[in-house]
Amino acid sequence: MRRRIIAANWKMNKNYQQGLELASEVIQIVADEVNGNAEVVLAVPFIHLQAVTRLAASNSRIAVAAQNCSTETEGAYTGETSAGQIASTGARYVLVGHSERREYFNEDGVVLMRKIEQTLQASMAPIFCCGEPLSIRDQGQENKFVASQLNDVLSTYPKADLHRLVLAYEPIWAIGTGRTATAAQAQAMHAHIRTVLTDLFGENAAQLIPILYGGSVKASNAVELFAQPDIDGGLVGGASLQSREFANICKA
Ligand code: 13P
Repeated sequence: MRRRIIAANWKMNKNYQQGLELASEVIQIVADEVNGNAEVVLAVPFIHLQAVTRLAASNSRIAVAAQNCSTETEGAYTGETSAGQIASTGARYVLVGHSERREYFNEDGVVLMRKIEQTLQASMAPIFCCGEPLSIRDQGQENKFVASQLNDVLSTYPKADLHRLVLAYEPIWAIGTGRTATAAQAQAMHAHIRTVLTDLFGENAAQLIPILYGGSVKASNAVELFAQPDIDGGLVGGASLQSREFANICKA
């Protein structure tokens, strides 16, 4: 049985007070209404890490993630936040390789490999993101593109830490556009990702790695997406900023 995970990615939204309010609401609704054993992860801005970790401490099904970490361990890197600093707040996950980081901050495979190493060294778990732009899908090259994103970064991933690895497939053309991949498109890519993971790590390990889908996930499409055999949960942007909508996705 693979773990199921629903992760909220708040991106650069909510000031400190608004973030506490949203986190409190989500934690309350999840505790009251969401059954089952899916884990709920809140990927919040750095300013919220510690406070949200404290709020979530009452519920073992809710964990906190950072949206990024430094490639460096400590020292004179003004404006950076290290994985060790993140872990010291009680956060347990780090998003690595989100398409917005790749695109706007030029993060390439070498950088992402370092960030995964830093995350593991700090005893946290990476949620490693992949996904193709529309131009690549239009050319029918999406499988090759995503395979190379995975091979570039995960070929040196330590086998002893595979139990911590989580993947997220987010087609760039579905992020923030309201245009979700169909359940069939998402399932086909998730199955492909699992064959890439099988080639990298072997069948048994690949079967246990959760693969989340992201890109315009809403309560209204979550049931169908999450029913697919290789979709193990979601990474939710816009819809995670409303507690009721996000809780309904968790219920799905
Ligand atoms: P949306 O759910 O807003 O499309 O964002 C998806 C995403 O990028 C989550 O990381």
